[in-house]
Amino acid sequence: MRRAGLGALAVLALLAAGCDGKDAPVTAAEYGERLFNDARLSESGFNAFSCATCHATTPTAPAGRLDSGYTLHDSAFRKSWWGGYETRLLDAVNFCYVNFMRGVAPLPEDSPQSRALYEYLVSISPNRDARPLPFTVVKDAAEVPRGNVARGGEVYRAACQGCHGEPHTGAGRLTELASILPEVTADYGETFPGVPPSLVVIEKVRHGQFFGVGGNMPPYSLEALSDADLGALLAFLEL
Ligand code: HEC
Ligand code: HEC
Repeated sequence: MRRAGLGALAVLALLAAGCDGKDAPVTAAEYGERLFNDARLSESGFNAFSCATCHATTPTAPAGRLDSGYTLHDSAFRKSWWGGYETRLLDAVNFCYVNFMRGVAPLPEDSPQSRALYEYLVSISPNRDARPLPFTVVKDAAEVPRGNVARGGEVYRAACQGCHGEPHTGAGRLTELASILPEVTADYGETFPGVPPSLVVIEKVRHGQFFGVGGNMPPYSLEALSDADLGALLAFLEL
C-alpha cells in the first residue's frame, strides 16, 4: 500500500491490519497527524486549508505566526472549546471542518478520520487539567485607531500572508480564492455603498464574513488579533 494514497479506505485497512505491509506500522495518532496537515481531509475541491493552516501544535504559538486559531497543544482535555460555545471536542473540530474547510457533512464520531484526529490531539495534550481558553468575538465591527506601519507589515506577514500572499500581488498565496490585498477593496464603494472600505475589512477579519454573509475565512477574536494590531495592519494596507 502506498503512503501517498492514504485515504479513508486505506486507514480502515491500516487500522484493521495494524500495519501497511512494506512500510512501518502507522498508529492512529500518526495517521491523525497526517490528516491534520493535509487539506485533502476535506473532500471539497474548493478547500485549500488543512488544520495546520490555522493551528500550531507547539506549547506556545511560534514567533512570526498570528493564527486565528489557538495552538492545539493541550487542547484535548479542556472542559469546553471555542470560548465555551462547544462542549464536545469533536463538535469543536467539526465547526472548523464544515465552516472553514467546506466539509460537506460533519465528521461522524466513529469515522477513522475523527478517531485518528482525536488520538493525535491527545498525543499533543500532556496536561489533562488544561483550562478552557477565552474566545472574545467583537460583536459589531467598528473603526479602530490606526497604528504603526512597520508593525502592520509584521502583522500582515504573520496573520494574512500565508493565505493571501504578498500584498499588492498575491504572490505565493495559498489559494486563488484568497483575494489580493488591499487591491480587492477598490470595488467596495460599489459593493458596499455607504460603508468605508476599511470597515468592510474590519468586519471580514472580525467575523470571517461580510456582515453575516459569505466566506470561509476564519474570524479573528480579540485574543487572536488585538485592535492595536488590527489598526497597525490597516495603516500598513493604507486603509
Ligand atoms: C481556517 C482556519 C481554521 C482551520 C482550517 C481549522 N481551524 Fe480549528 N479553529 C479555528 C478558529 C478561528 C478557532 C477558534 C479559536 C480557538 O478556539 O482556537 C478554532 C478552534 C478549534 C478548536 C477549539 C480550541 C479551543 O480550545 O477553543 C479545536 C479543537 C480545533 N479548532 C481543531 C481543528 C482541527 C482538528 C482542524 C482540522 C480538521 C481545524 N481546527 C481546522 C480556525 C481553524
Ligand atoms: C486561513 C486563510 C486566511 C487567512 C489567515 C486570512 N484570510 Fe482573508 N480570505 C481568505 C479566503 C479564502 C478569502 C475568500 C473567501 C472569503 O471571502 O471568505 C478571504 C477573503 C478576505 C477578504 C475579502 C476579499 C473580497 O473578496 O472582498 C478580506 C478583506 C480579507 N480576506 C482580509 C484578510 C486579512 C486582513 C487577513 C489577516 C488579518 C486575512 N484575510 C487572513 C483566507 C484567509
